[in-house]
Amino acid sequence: MLIVRNATLPDGRSSIDVLTDAGRITAIGANLPVPAGAEMIEADGQLLSPPFVDAHFHMDATLSHGLPRVNVSGTLLEGIALWGELKPQLTQAALVERALQYCDWAVAKGLLAIRTHVDVCDARLLAVEALLHVKAVVAPWLDLQLVAFPQDGLLRAPGALANLKRALDLGVDVVGGIPHFERTMAAGAESVRILCELAAERGLRVDLHCDETDDPLSRHIETLAFHTQRLGLHGRVTGSHLTSMHSMDNYYVSKLLPLIAEAQVHAIANPLINITLQGRHDSYPKRRGMTRVPELMAAGVNVAFGHDCVLDPWYSLGCADMLEVAHMGLHVAQMTSTAQMRACFDAVTVNAAKVMGLSDYGLEVGKAADFVLLQARDPVEAIRLRATRLVVVRRGQVVARTPATTAALSLPGRPQTVDWTLRR
Ligand code: FE2
Repeated sequence: MLIVRNATLPDGRSSIDVLTDAGRITAIGANLPVPAGAEMIEADGQLLSPPFVDAHFHMDATLSHGLPRVNVSGTLLEGIALWGELKPQLTQAALVERALQYCDWAVAKGLLAIRTHVDVCDARLLAVEALLHVKAVVAPWLDLQLVAFPQDGLLRAPGALANLKRALDLGVDVVGGIPHFERTMAAGAESVRILCELAAERGLRVDLHCDETDDPLSRHIETLAFHTQRLGLHGRVTGSHLTSMHSMDNYYVSKLLPLIAEAQVHAIANPLINITLQGRHDSYPKRRGMTRVPELMAAGVNVAFGHDCVLDPWYSLGCADMLEVAHMGLHVAQMTSTAQMRACFDAVTVNAAKVMGLSDYGLEVGKAADFVLLQARDPVEAIRLRATRLVVVRRGQVVARTPATTAALSLPGRPQTVDWTLRR
């Protein structure tokens, strides 16, 4: 049994206690009685949030930075080529070790659910087997969801469709794809049809890398929304990246947004990665290349932010900090009103959980006792500070702690711990 006393919740409720028993939340309210023998965490008014969720990641590539060399141009296409050079050298032991190290980082940062794409274009399916193993090993600490991802193109790479089906047979959860990397627009559209039908047949979710390009005429998201609607896959399909939307004609977007909303297709923006990968063929002005996040949200589309990459062929930084992701997303999308900043916090928590279909997620009675206590008073402050994760709890057990910053001036009457809050 564990009780968190005097917390503030993301919705603004304050002086709240959260009681857990046998791994589940059993009560939420003010001044709850402390059961005998319960472990107590004094929140002291700090923010208690459901855990961070990363709905778009590549765990098979993570922590491979510099192997066999670094991406010089900084483009998506050099990253794909570099990953192709590394693939034949991969071993299962190295894949598992790097993934487990990343999961350590994730838990320390309160990131307790990750959807990771897994490249299925290597006929050995080494990465698939490695990550299925990692998924089982880390299950007590975090939820891993795997996407069968044909990195080199479902139709362009020989054997990719057969490999993808084999990966699903082995237990991979979600159907992936990359229509903008097929040889032609028509082949891209055909890959979307095949993948959606495969998901419908097997009762699975879909998450496609979709229109990750600066080309304003890359419109696979339209095809994805169409097949989602046609096959009745509402709520089970995600378009990842969608960066071409940044460059599309505004009139066309005004037609497209309601179609995405009607099909209940989720959208994932990956701000850290797309602000660095996109616009590389531009001179000045340079496009940001992130999808239209506030406009998608205003149209009623569920939008999450993903990390996408950490220390891999596409991105040389990162540490599993979803608040860093939210911070960048807020800036790139110019989401600076209070409501929009809060929406950026939702994009790395509740919205991402919705993408993954995590039914046990949330600070509610009866849900899994998973949460993170932040050294911040509210979601906006959490983003501003990339707040310290004071305590991370999984199924009612403390799984990580980080001490609060102590660097206060030694003056009488001043607190020992640094107070980051703006007080008026
Ligand atoms: Fe990606």
